[in-house]
Amino acid sequence: MDHPLDGTVVKKDFPLLGDLRPDGSPLVYLDSASSAQKPQSVLDAMDDLYCTSYANVHRGVYRLGVEATDRYEGARRTVARFIGAPHEREVIFTKNVTEAMNLVARTWGAANLGAGDVVVLSDMEHHANIVPWLMLAESVGIELRWIGLTDDYQLDLSNLDQLVDGAKLVSVTAMSNVLGSITDVRTIADAAHSAGALCMVDAAQWVPHLPTDVVAMDCDFLGFTGHKVLGPTGIGVLWARSEILDAMPAFLGGGEMIRDVRKDGWTVNELPWKFEAGTPPIAEAVGLAAGIEYLETLGMDRVRAHEVDLTAYALDTLTARFGDTLTIHGPSDLSARGGVLSLALDEVHPHDISQVLDQHGVCVRAGHHCAKPLMRELGVGATARASLYVYNDRSDVDALADALAATVEFFTL
Ligand code: ALA
Repeated sequence: MDHPLDGTVVKKDFPLLGDLRPDGSPLVYLDSASSAQKPQSVLDAMDDLYCTSYANVHRGVYRLGVEATDRYEGARRTVARFIGAPHEREVIFTKNVTEAMNLVARTWGAANLGAGDVVVLSDMEHHANIVPWLMLAESVGIELRWIGLTDDYQLDLSNLDQLVDGAKLVSVTAMSNVLGSITDVRTIADAAHSAGALCMVDAAQWVPHLPTDVVAMDCDFLGFTGHKVLGPTGIGVLWARSEILDAMPAFLGGGEMIRDVRKDGWTVNELPWKFEAGTPPIAEAVGLAAGIEYLETLGMDRVRAHEVDLTAYALDTLTARFGDTLTIHGPSDLSARGGVLSLALDEVHPHDISQVLDQHGVCVRAGHHCAKPLMRELGVGATARASLYVYNDRSDVDALADALAATVEFFTL
């Protein structure tokens, strides 16, 4: 690692994160777990495509169509490199990670799961990795099992072999969007494979924050979303091993996913287009690639080191200033967590916290974070969640602490 990443310098590359909003109010953006801001290079890449090289892809043989196709397929190569995918044909562009998980449930799940078949999830899954399986439980009667939590908000793997025994799939988040807890994916994948099951990873919160290597993880499916990796909304990625994708039935029908159509039938296109029906998100793919290239320039090791450093500073600062009045739901071990801080103040509703913070220019998300089963396990209805990213620095954490102090004062006077 050359030198530490400096959030104050990185921030200057993000037009929306200037010192002041256009109306003169300050902006402290601490909601990157929800969606990340975009660097100028992402905006420029999408603008450039539309201004110089835009046409539909894989259709026209005219110059513009070829250029657009080259950029779209180039984006796929960038994604493959970023996640260590052995083949770019294993990278499927979807609408978001939710669609990626649903694609697996609707195609692989529908073809391979029947009544009584077991899918293992964890207590800290996002609804996107719960509801598709609940749908299969309702329609074909699959059984769900759940990996629980330890007292320090990590997955309790003490009975993993028992949980995966007889399972067909283990599907877990690599990093909780509520707790920041990092999952030991490799251990889970190994246990799944020993039991004859496949392993799927919801990496929406992992891919933006840590180096990703699908081969080292040894998972079978991995999904993430573009807008958390500095790219635009409207694009996500499903990666899976090609032999699995080859064997899966197609998902949506039409457009790019066919090889031939007759009045009495159709044949499917090859990977990756087999799973990309209709006109794909062309500019979004280009923007996603630009976001990834920006992160590659920073270096993912430095991105992770910056977050560990800033998270340590945040935990120390908040604990010193608020003591037991502030609960931070998440692991205490910095090596086992990312920069997600789920906060609860005694006797102040998270929505009220979020509203007062907003009056101080601090953006955090309040609510159940699309993880209601986890909130029930935690015994809370909601939290106020601050989440850190590459463009945050210690002044942002200080602003959060000051705004929380103002919140406490407001509600205790
Ligand atoms: N899943 C995103 C979040 O945690 C939207 O906020």
